[in-house]
Amino acid sequence: MDWGIRNRLSRILNPQDGKGVMLAVDHGYFLGPTEKLENPRKTIKPLLKYAESLMLTRGILRRCVDPDSDIPIVLRVSGGTSILGEDLSNETITTSVEEAIKLNASCLALSIFVGSKYEHQTLSNLSKLVDQGENYGIPVLAVTAVGKEMARDARYLALSCRIAGELGAHLVKTYYCENFENVVEGCPVPVIIAGGKKLPEKEALNLTFNAIKDGASGVDMGRNIWQSNYPVEMIQAVRAIVHDKLTVEESMNSFFLNKNIRSNELETLKTT
Ligand code: R5P
Repeated sequence: MDWGIRNRLSRILNPQDGKGVMLAVDHGYFLGPTEKLENPRKTIKPLLKYAESLMLTRGILRRCVDPDSDIPIVLRVSGGTSILGEDLSNETITTSVEEAIKLNASCLALSIFVGSKYEHQTLSNLSKLVDQGENYGIPVLAVTAVGKEMARDARYLALSCRIAGELGAHLVKTYYCENFENVVEGCPVPVIIAGGKKLPEKEALNLTFNAIKDGASGVDMGRNIWQSNYPVEMIQAVRAIVHDKLTVEESMNSFFLNKNIRSNELETLKTT
């Protein structure tokens, strides 16, 4: 693999253990000002110290992250749809590789929608982006997006991840599922997981633990971090599972230790 690609990838997945904690804040590209991401600068700022890379669009990067930040950027370069539109899978490439270079991106991110109406278009987008990225030594993260009607099971996710890897993606993001080890095994490149919809903190940490145990190379997590009432404590707990191999119980303890949570809130969290 090209030196530039390996160098950039080493900024996303720590070469010591091959794992990484990516903070996803790109949701507005089709959802608009979603809950707790209405003011991205405010959401991102306290988390920057703990995130190992940041996934977002150029618009939010330019306006909401100071250029003296040294956090590696995973630039979302696909979109062109909205939650109100006809079909979310009808994505195009929205940002050029030259623009990504100007923004000093470490990685390019693009969604594929296997099994959707626009499957071919999104897979073709991925192939083109890999060609363009490789011209400049920039890796590509394929996001295996899932339509409302599509099952998030190992069979489907393994299909999507494998196709992404076959088309040249350097890293793949998908969802955790039962028999996740089959998804990882069938994919020729590292697989990281999205968090999905907001869960109680313990469940989100459990998801992280199971994914790492089953072979994930880390997380690209958004809502389960910044929609928590304790986002800094959450990202610290996620990091502890990903890199320090903490159990869910241990990470929950570190979560509580990191925050002097009022006892009634603590009880609520413990029982969820
Ligand atoms: C979709 O909006 C994006 O690809 C997100 O970056 C991805 O789903 C990860 O965010 P979350 O953990 O909130 O699912």
